[in-house]
Amino acid sequence: MDNRFGSKVILITGAGSGLGQASAIQVAKEGAKLSLVDLNGASLEETKNKVLEVAPKTEMILITANVADEKAVENYVNETVKYFGKIDGFFNNAGIEGKQNLTEDFGIDEFQKVVSVNLNGVFYGLKHVLKVMREQGFGSIVNTASVGGIRGVGSQSGYAASKHGVVGLTRNSGIEYGQYGISIKAIAPGAIMTPMVEGSLKQIDPENWEEVGKQFVEPNPMKRFGKPEEVGYLVAFLLSEQADFINATVIPIDGGQSYKY
Ligand SMILES: NC(=O)c1ccc[n+]([C@@H]2O[C@H](COP(=O)([O-])OP(=O)(O)OC[C@H]3O[C@@H](n4cnc5c(N)ncnc54)[C@H](O)[C@@H]3O)[C@@H](O)[C@H]2O)c1
Repeated sequence: MDNRFGSKVILITGAGSGLGQASAIQVAKEGAKLSLVDLNGASLEETKNKVLEVAPKTEMILITANVADEKAVENYVNETVKYFGKIDGFFNNAGIEGKQNLTEDFGIDEFQKVVSVNLNGVFYGLKHVLKVMREQGFGSIVNTASVGGIRGVGSQSGYAASKHGVVGLTRNSGIEYGQYGISIKAIAPGAIMTPMVEGSLKQIDPENWEEVGKQFVEPNPMKRFGKPEEVGYLVAFLLSEQADFINATVIPIDGGQSYKY
């Protein structure tokens, strides 16, 4: 269990913050070599330092890239293979929430922006990583969907469309690639306390966002936010060989909220 990722290469997008950072730390603790991708280069340095605090020998490359740019995606995949020679696991995770609004008021540009990062970005990642994994004959992929990808949340047209799309891509590619020894799953986190959720609460009330947060989690069966490291444990398991037979499916991590009537 402790060394599930010894000699394994794990590629993570959105690795500079939140769920991507927590997952990088977890797999590095278990011996992984890391290729970390984010739009924000400074945040990648922060993740690198946090990883080295807990796993000082971690071999790691940092790649600043926009996942919504197909050429940049092709490049981060090529750079990873050039440096490490393979990709064992891919956490296809970078995403944004976008401005909340009623559907009729939802900005066209905003819709396109959210879809281009959350859906196109995940598709480009799958397209380029799957080519590598099919040739090598192994690999596991975890796409980040959301509870907003399996339920209606409201005020999030772009997010809902893109995250439901991520679930569709997961099912479609999982069916295609199982025969090549590759498993593809999605996670559907509920509210996990990361900078994204903090930003979301601040959209509702910038002054009293912590109070808004308390009310927000009241309907949750566990009455709290999830922690990034809890998602890190799940992602590590799903990327490990222990989860190879879990394919083309979506795993919620939300305290049970998405099953509540
Ligand atoms: N935190 C939650 O409650 C929650 C719930 C459900 C789903 N998610 C999903 O989890 C993923 C991670 O979210 P988080 O909460 O860690 O958010 P976060 O904002 O803390 O981290 C996201 C990271 O992605 C990077 N990023 C954003 N756009 C990018 C782009 N175009 N190219 C490359 N990198 C980019 C950001 O710079 C940031 O470092 C997202 O896909 C999000 O939709 C989060």
